[in-house]
Amino acid sequence: DLLLGVMGDPIAQSKSPIMHGAALKALGIQGAYVPLHITGDQLGDAVQAIKTLGFRGVNVTIPHKVAVMEYLDKLDESAVAVGAVNTIVNDNGVLTGFNTDGIGYVRSLKAEAVPDLSGTRILVIGAGGAARGIVSALLAEKPYSVKIANRTAGKAGELAALFQSRGKVAGVGMDEIAEAAKDADIVINTTSVGMFPHPDDLPMDPGLLHEGMVVSDLIYNPLRTRLLLEGLKRGCTIHGGLGMFVYQGAYALEYWTGQAAPVEIMRQTIIDCLG
Ligand code: ATR
Repeated sequence: DLLLGVMGDPIAQSKSPIMHGAALKALGIQGAYVPLHITGDQLGDAVQAIKTLGFRGVNVTIPHKVAVMEYLDKLDESAVAVGAVNTIVNDNGVLTGFNTDGIGYVRSLKAEAVPDLSGTRILVIGAGGAARGIVSALLAEKPYSVKIANRTAGKAGELAALFQSRGKVAGVGMDEIAEAAKDADIVINTTSVGMFPHPDDLPMDPGLLHEGMVVSDLIYNPLRTRLLLEGLKRGCTIHGGLGMFVYQGAYALEYWTGQAAPVEIMRQTIIDCLG
């Protein structure tokens, strides 16, 4: 049987077990995907146990995505670029770390809103771990430019500097977001501002959103954030965060099984459980 799971602390809230459980069933694969509550001091032993117990792989979630890297045998380029791992693949006792968050997000954005990202002007709000993965994956699509706006301007500058060699990337503070929004084709919120239980919060002045823009939010609870609703009112195309969650899992499942993931079943499973 195929053994899979997700390591995090806390873990009870994770929707990955139900999503992957539905996917395994749909593919007719015998196996299980289990939630694993692992604290920071247990992480090294838990990673070793992937080999001992014969797990084919695990996802890694908050707060272990960075710390887990030191316990792995190999890191895929995706994990090196992002500086974090969300997926581990066990090949006969050799553990490789991948990061499917950024590429999962981009696959979702292309499938659901912007089929071709080349030549686009992209404004990213936030400069944390999530932004890093997304900027890395976006640059692979050859946009015209990526501007990162963050509450702490210095962090936006640091993130931009990290990717300097891969394209036209700049970091600014929130005081300059109005200028950056003017000619942006796509605005992406990577911060947690607007997430349950504070669904009324906005990561930027919605007056800066204009018709024809694509407004995207990594948050999927609520499915439509206040930012997305404000975009909708102003004639923007909106893209929510559910697809990112589905496709980061889809890539992981594809690495583990070699089979195409049943993404629509995975998506519907999450929608049903968000109720
Ligand atoms: P993640 O991995 O989810 O990106 P993170 O690395 O802690 O988490 O980064 C959180 C991001 O959201 C940061 O860009 C943070 O801005 P600062 O760098 O200024 O801290 C941003 N963020 C979080 N809460 C915010 C708030 N209330 N207003 C504006 N930005 C916020």
